Amino acid sequence: MEEFSCKTKIISGSGAVSALGQLGARRLFLVTDPYFMKTGQARQVAQVAKCAETAIFDRVRPDPTVELVAQGTAELKKFQPDLVVALGGGSAMDCAKAMVYFAKEKVLLAAVPTTSGSGSEVTDFAVLTHGSVKRPLVDPRLRPDLAILDSDLLTALPKGLVAETGFDVLTHAVEAYVSKRAGTLTDLYAREAFSSAYAALPASYAGRQEVRLKVHLAATMAGMAFTQAGLGLCHALAHSLGGMFHVSHGRLNAILLPAVIGCNAHAAAGKYAGLARAAGMGGSADTIALRNLKNSLIRLRRELNLPQTLTQAGVDPRAVWRGAEHIVGAALEDPCCKDNPLEPEAFLIRRILEEVTGRV
Ligand SMILES: NC(=O)c1ccc[n+]([C@@H]2O[C@H](COP(=O)([O-])OP(=O)(O)OC[C@H]3O[C@@H](n4cnc5c(N)ncnc54)[C@H](O)[C@@H]3O)[C@@H](O)[C@H]2O)c1
Ligand SMILES: [Fe+2]
Repeated sequence: MEEFSCKTKIISGSGAVSALGQLGARRLFLVTDPYFMKTGQARQVAQVAKCAETAIFDRVRPDPTVELVAQGTAELKKFQPDLVVALGGGSAMDCAKAMVYFAKEKVLLAAVPTTSGSGSEVTDFAVLTHGSVKRPLVDPRLRPDLAILDSDLLTALPKGLVAETGFDVLTHAVEAYVSKRAGTLTDLYAREAFSSAYAALPASYAGRQEVRLKVHLAATMAGMAFTQAGLGLCHALAHSLGGMFHVSHGRLNAILLPAVIGCNAHAAAGKYAGLARAAGMGGSADTIALRNLKNSLIRLRRELNLPQTLTQAGVDPRAVWRGAEHIVGAALEDPCCKDNPLEPEAFLIRRILEEVTGRV
């Protein structure tokens, strides 16, 4: 049996944010990070929404904490909005989603992503950090009502963000495609998201604006796939390492994904090979296609100037081994683990850590 629901209305294209003005809302609560206050885009988006009253919560930080969400939830409850808009990357969207969830108020939630990465605009996930543990909250009530994919918000996207959030998209697509809960419909979205992002990322990284919407749509498609099919060991480990070392989520996925593919190879060779062929990486035998997939991702990672190892990402390898027990334990407890095609075990995670850590 396969269940697939697309509750979120998606509006995309240049100027799509103007759709906020047609919602007839009166009280807007906008959740964003300080960058969008500084650029003036938060105020511009608020104006477009044409609400009589607006409150802006602009304290979102990367790896948002439960404490920050609690503060926002209290402000949201006090303000009593009828529309909540999240403007920003996965961090701002996850914060807004969690605030609405905990406030238990009936409001319309619109997500306006400004990175082409998390897919949070269409998912049932909100990733929050508590102490040194980063963990997804998963509930269908977290899924936004509206996703606005406006390419005009992507023109100033720095190269580094294109690269790291783009690798997040590729990782969502790969993990959803090989997940234990993958089905015909999630495969369709995951395959298209992967092929499309893989083909367009180098041009987007080089600054070509005309492909930016393509990667943006791929991010949303990958979100639609993984919110139904689940993710896997790469995300479980990215959450665990992210909570401890605060390397960006996309960079961690870029470092981990080829190693996780190698670890899962026996359990999902046919699926990985299918994805490689769909993206034009070739390989008639599954083993060759799978090798092509891993090598192509390593090549792309280099082309996008992403770190190859945790050490290159600034993490002291000695700290990784000192914290290995916690890292492995947190990864095994992460809900993403349960959909991985291979049953994750501590020794496999340690082997991946060895591959990605770099020299001690
Ligand atoms: N909920 C989900 O389904 C889901 C899925 C994957 C990842 N995540 C989470 O999302 C977070 C990562 O999100 P992200 O990668 O989008 O990054 P982010 O939201 O943490 O933003 C990173 C930085 O980019 C800046 N930024 C955002 N858009 C910009 C733009 N257009 N121009 C210039 N700067 C911009 C922000 O100000 C911020 O400083 C992680 O916490 C990750 O765990 C959530
Ligand atoms: Fe992710």
